[in-house]
Amino acid sequence: MRKILVTNALPYANGPIHMGHLLGYIQADIWVRAMRAMGHDVTYVCADDAHGTAIMLRAEANGISPEAQIANVQKEHIRDFDGFGVHFDHYDSTNSDENKARSEEIYIKNREAGNIAIRPVTQLFDPEKGMFLSDRFIKGTCPKCKSEDQYGDACEVCGTTYNATELLDPRSTLSGATPVEKSSDHYFFKLPNFAEYLQKWTRDQGRLPVSIANKLDEWFDAGLSDWDISRDAPYFGFEIPDAPNKYFYVWVDAPIGYMSSFENYIKTKRPDLSFDDFWKKDSQNEVYHFIGKDIVYFHALFWPAMLEGANYRTPSGLFVNGFLTVNGQKMSKSRGTFIKAETYLQHLNPEYLRYYFASKLSDKVEDSDLNLDDFVQKVNSDLVGKVVNIASRCAKFINSNFNNTLSSTCAEPELVQSFIDAGDSIAKAYEAREFSAAIREIMALADRANQYIDEKKPWALAKQEGQEQQVHDVCSVGINLFRQLAVYLSPVLPTLAAQVQAFLQLESFGFESRKQILVAHEIAQFQPLMQRVDPKAVTAMVDASKDSLAAAAEAPKVEKKKEKKAEKKPEPKVDEAEIIGIEDFMKVDLRVAQVLEATIVEGSDKLLQLTLDIGEAEPRNVFSGIRGSYAPEDLKGKLVVMVANLAPRKMRFGISNGMVLAAGNGEGVWVISPESGAKAGDKVS
Ligand code: MSP
Ligand code: ZN
Repeated sequence: MRKILVTNALPYANGPIHMGHLLGYIQADIWVRAMRAMGHDVTYVCADDAHGTAIMLRAEANGISPEAQIANVQKEHIRDFDGFGVHFDHYDSTNSDENKARSEEIYIKNREAGNIAIRPVTQLFDPEKGMFLSDRFIKGTCPKCKSEDQYGDACEVCGTTYNATELLDPRSTLSGATPVEKSSDHYFFKLPNFAEYLQKWTRDQGRLPVSIANKLDEWFDAGLSDWDISRDAPYFGFEIPDAPNKYFYVWVDAPIGYMSSFENYIKTKRPDLSFDDFWKKDSQNEVYHFIGKDIVYFHALFWPAMLEGANYRTPSGLFVNGFLTVNGQKMSKSRGTFIKAETYLQHLNPEYLRYYFASKLSDKVEDSDLNLDDFVQKVNSDLVGKVVNIASRCAKFINSNFNNTLSSTCAEPELVQSFIDAGDSIAKAYEAREFSAAIREIMALADRANQYIDEKKPWALAKQEGQEQQVHDVCSVGINLFRQLAVYLSPVLPTLAAQVQAFLQLESFGFESRKQILVAHEIAQFQPLMQRVDPKAVTAMVDASKDSLAAAAEAPKVEKKKEKKAEKKPEPKVDEAEIIGIEDFMKVDLRVAQVLEATIVEGSDKLLQLTLDIGEAEPRNVFSGIRGSYAPEDLKGKLVVMVANLAPRKMRFGISNGMVLAAGNGEGVWVISPESGAKAGDKVS
């Protein structure tokens, strides 16, 4: 079994997760799930990148401490990743004791190895704010074309690059003050010491996408320079050892966060793993970083050089994603295509996006486009129209005509076997991060499965005399084919896969498990798996993205408040067609019921059999899928709410005469219970 550590780029703690970020996070999460499904031991960690001037200033603008700022954002980030099924084993912060200790250690080892230099640097200084200004915080008149209001590094009008000190009439964007030139000592990492090492490193097999290695050659040709790794106080970060008031530049301790997040993970959750097994120089275990293309320079040059200089192992590979555009253009606040993770989740199922991204991603460093019309079309035609459709067409016969049990022999062993065999190349495609190729193969299989069912027409056979066995066989083959598809899609659609696993009552859903064809196998009651994407929900999401951010742009000072308000505005979540009138609602006879008896149902690990008093002469018998959350004795005597006028449903274990209301969150099911005072038989409205 391979032992693999996977990381994602650490998002900055000064803003929300958006669609662009998610491309790389979803990509990594799919890879992690796929590698696990193939049986590898994968650890997946991340953290917030908590340091730097931007975060310090954001905290100041919000009137809170940097610590409070990063704690708030971390909560939101974790919530958003969780919402998209991006499931890290551990999510840390670079502002941790462990990261401080590790950063100091790596710095000191490099210092001892002669890789650090100190020399004075003259920079612009804001006398009012009392801080040095990076180019981003200085504006002035272009020395060349005399355009006003240009940033400190380059002129957007004539394209000239210059030093901030050359700007005419410079001013600080933080205070408006005129900056003055000031000198202070800076600490440098001597990157040229590693020129030869890095040139070889970047060409090692599998280390980097070739296109990136080629790009790096240009940098090598131009010659590497020392890297300024210090910032003067005030700075939110770690103080450099033996250098009072000098702080590590955020990009020093950020990648070290990969190590310290892993360290904290094993400390708190996996004592069987060892830090050294992954990070000491000759470690055979694998380490991969998923990053966006804009941060290659840091990961392919500074990071391996720092590690090498401190005698640690370097990553086995860097997996680099291109940038995301929406509707063919850079994400834009005014067009409503700068879509936050949170906003998306208020309108759409996260698995739609996971699927769409998967269908676009390859191992190439190419930009991807989220075209919203294509998104609706693809999800509806592939997932709902092809995949889920197979199950819904076959399951109802198995459920209602055949006691929830599949045929005792497989009627199409070759067809099913060909689906099983296809898994090998699908697995290879996943491993090579050729997700779009994997999806293409899976959809070709889905087409074949539908073709098979279309040819056999079980719905027509079911109406003919003496064709029971045929119907049973065809639907059982259909369910087997569907199972193969669901296993193959499980890295991309973990929630759907979990539902299917429960529906098929399977212990394992790993890739190896698919090789066992399901015969004489009992399945559970089919539940709808995925709804079509409603184009109106997409429009509502875009509108909501316009709202919050346009408001923010009008009044940047109160950005925080306005955004909150816009987010709270209730969004139309239901489509017109789903809205029902009061008269429809009144048709439902909801009643308080008291549980007289609750018993386990032999042969089902989901159901409990309930005997309910609803104020009628005879108690009601109801089967309820709540066994996972309740022991029978928890329920006895409890008041619940039931739908009393539901058509009786014949189940394998008997007839269910009504339904108990319960709330489900994917992790458990909780019955709705009235406050005390209500009595069995009371009407609920
Ligand atoms: N904090 C640094 C990474 C430190 S890693 C030691 C950073 N943070 S970020 O929040 O700006 O970006 C996080 C990740 O999202 C990066 O991999 C970045 O490339 C990626 N993306 C941000 N916007 C993106 C798009 N529009 N499209 C695709 N990826 C994008 O960089
Ligand atoms: Zn100019």
